[in-house]
Amino acid sequence: MAFKKLAIGNDHTAIDLKNEIMAYVQEKGIEVINVGTDSPERFNYPISGYKVARMVADGEVDGGILICGTGVGISLAANKVEGIRAVVCSEPYSARLSRQHNNTNIVAFGARVIGVETAKDIVDAWLGGEYEGGRHQVRIDMIDEIQKTQKLAAAEE
Ligand code: RB5
Repeated sequence: MAFKKLAIGNDHTAIDLKNEIMAYVQEKGIEVINVGTDSPERFNYPISGYKVARMVADGEVDGGILICGTGVGISLAANKVEGIRAVVCSEPYSARLSRQHNNTNIVAFGARVIGVETAKDIVDAWLGGEYEGGRHQVRIDMIDEIQKTQKLAAAEE
């Protein structure tokens, strides 16, 4: 899938990295909607995690990028929105495979964990990964079943 429009969100730990990554993605000709924060005041990461996830789930954008100190909290928040598959990455291999096998629609990373060049490599790998479908869709359907029903029929067999 060629990403044309992304949303990006962050907390107070990640403003500089967010700006670098936003410019990097825009240079590729991809439109980026910045949901913030752009203030150094302490900011509760679930707010931007939710905003980006909502836009992705509603089809307003093709995907999202989330950055907090570790990438953990902000991706946990995003993953609570139905239809969201957010992955936290510290290296590009997982980012690419998360697209190919898990059809992730949000990539997250930590401004206190990785530097800007690794972040760019992760973004490149994630943007370039094509979902392969097939056997992987069976597993994604199982994840959706857990979310919708809080059960998994295959685990009862
Ligand atoms: C903020 O101190 C920090 O907890 C946040 O950026 C993130 O790392 C949470 O997962």
